[in-house]
Amino acid sequence: MKKPLSVYLHFPFCEKRCGYCDFVSCTATQDIDAYLQKLCAEIRAFDFTPYQVRTIYLGGGTPSLMTPEQLANVFACLPACDGEVTIECNPNSLTRAKCKAYQRLGINRLSLGVQSFDDATLRDLGRIHDVKQAVQAINLAHEFFDNVSIDLIKDIPEHTFVTPPAEILALIQHISIYSLTKDDHCVLDTDEPVNLPADFVRYEVSNYARAGYESRHNLVYWTGGEYIGFGAGAHSLLNNQRFCNSSAILTYRREQPVPRTPADIHDEQIMLGLRLRSGVARNLLVGKDAEIQMLAEHGLVTVTPERVIATAAGLKVLNQIWLRLV
Ligand SMILES: C[S@@+](CC[C@H](N)C(=O)[O-])C[C@H]1O[C@@H](n2cnc3c(N)ncnc32)[C@H](O)[C@@H]1O
Ligand code: SF4
Repeated sequence: MKKPLSVYLHFPFCEKRCGYCDFVSCTATQDIDAYLQKLCAEIRAFDFTPYQVRTIYLGGGTPSLMTPEQLANVFACLPACDGEVTIECNPNSLTRAKCKAYQRLGINRLSLGVQSFDDATLRDLGRIHDVKQAVQAINLAHEFFDNVSIDLIKDIPEHTFVTPPAEILALIQHISIYSLTKDDHCVLDTDEPVNLPADFVRYEVSNYARAGYESRHNLVYWTGGEYIGFGAGAHSLLNNQRFCNSSAILTYRREQPVPRTPADIHDEQIMLGLRLRSGVARNLLVGKDAEIQMLAEHGLVTVTPERVIATAAGLKVLNQIWLRLV
């Protein structure tokens, strides 16, 4: 019986680098072919024999900057995937021809970096698309895919979060809403409210989906499943070890795994569980009944016989809850 595995592929290239970007990204597009050769060699060197690939995620950077031929070469190195295959796209680099090519490659989910439905916010973020282009890209994605996600950013200084209009919500199944982080990875001090229709369920602290459209790939990250990351800066969790590649685009290499004690793994499972609507299994919280009761009395968690689940108020103070439960 093969073990389930998720695969992450990193495509670091972008047309323009956004000042706020938190990811390994660059504009050295002259290096794309050399990078893809290295990426393919890395994939081919991995032994997939014990695994069945369940999800693939093409992340960036801007995977939609790659030509269909370049992506086809990468897919040719991978075994078949029997589940969700996502590509991250920037609104200005998605075309009809690319959508068709993605379908041929077995891609079945598109994630569009919309960021905001306000032109002034997009300008201040340094984005190279406007709302009109983002709306066109969403319509195009919807024409070809029945599983479309958009990324939005909130808590941007001097700007107000704009809820996607109803006609856009009708075209998408999933929304990720991230709080803008600063260079030191701190979330800024505001916490703008998000009001989406009830059919978009907040199944993770930053993620909302219609029933059945939760991101399978990201759920693997959040539930401790195994995944392998290929490319600059990509992270992996395999055989109980976490490791990552360094970020130098053409010379990245796999770094030594970070040693994890059973206590580290236990504490991490609690943090990941707190972020999810499904919550934390009670059997991870042995000896914590008094703390759980106190958190419940403060309206920060709800408790079932099997799970402890952060409430909307609790999701705002996850670190404090976590510190009391580990
Ligand atoms: C890996 S990026 C790639 C998406 C795509 N290149 C784009 O920009 O449209 C995925 C998402 O991370 C989010 N993101 C990037 N930097 C961030 C930051 N500093 N704070 C919050 N969200 C951020 C954006 O919403 C972005 O769409
Ligand atoms: S386009 Fe996306 S990945 Fe590239 S710099 Fe901007 S936010 Fe980062």
